[in-house]
Amino acid sequence: MEVSTLVLARTRAELRDRVAAWRRQGQLIGFVPTMGALHQGHAALVRRARAECDRVVVSIFVNPTQFGPNEDFDRYPRTEDADRALLESLGVDLLFAPPVREIYPPGDSTRVVVGSVAEPMEGERRPGFFTGVATVCTRLFALVSPDRAYFGEKDWQQLLVVRRLVEDLGLPLTIEAVATVREADGLALSSRNAYLSPAERAVAPLLHRCLVEAAEALRAGEPFPPVRERAVQRLVRSGFAAPDYLDLRDEGTLVPLAAARPGARLFIAARLGATRLIDNLAVPLG
Ligand code: PAJ
Repeated sequence: MEVSTLVLARTRAELRDRVAAWRRQGQLIGFVPTMGALHQGHAALVRRARAECDRVVVSIFVNPTQFGPNEDFDRYPRTEDADRALLESLGVDLLFAPPVREIYPPGDSTRVVVGSVAEPMEGERRPGFFTGVATVCTRLFALVSPDRAYFGEKDWQQLLVVRRLVEDLGLPLTIEAVATVREADGLALSSRNAYLSPAERAVAPLLHRCLVEAAEALRAGEPFPPVRERAVQRLVRSGFAAPDYLDLRDEGTLVPLAAARPGARLFIAARLGATRLIDNLAVPLG
């Protein structure tokens, strides 16, 4: 009987040696990039990869280039022991958890800049964020050389940005999307939920509830502006800051929409106390 144990790689060289051996054997390699503080949302990505691939590689790397100067890089939750135990229980073959210099070597000066789908919403509110994401994903794809990489719909815009760069650079992998995993009350799982106080945690599900209700009103034929106004009022009355954005857009191009139509999706980012939450929801057809 083969006992599967999680192998840990800290350097590019260790990673490449392992993966090269699997490649030579013609094995299908699945890859799940993460920043750690793993939860059941990450686990859903890993389970998909485990079901579809011969080998599963997970990376844990809190990527400095995707954090703004006033963002939470220093206090981002780091829980590597618990993460390793979870990945082992999920049957992951290899964990790549490098120090920063393995991804950004001394003298590093190459960036991957995506236009179009990277420009609105998160791109506008977090300058440099998607350049950081695109740069680290490109480097991780080059190092891991996966056949498939798995991304969550929770970060829908990130998924589109990564698809765009894979297409534009002609990288030899496919990007697979996994549905958002939510708590029973609707709150999307996120490593940043750990920042919420008990009082904030009680209010946080309203973010998703407002999207659900807005989607229902849009499906019933209401135009977006009054639907948006109602949702914003309700969030602000309940203790959220005015949202960074609450948009209705085409889910493939991110072009703004004025009313529901096939492929319409709602996107929101709003701060609750010191914690910034994001979510998105498809608008079902009438
Ligand atoms: P992180 O926030 O750790 O998320 C890693 C992956 O898990 C992403 O693809 C994200 O969309 C997915 N994910 C997070 N919460 C989820 C949920 N509730 N349901 C389903 N999937 C969920 O996203 C990043 O890290 C980074 O930007 C990264 C891509 C690793 C680049 O640094």
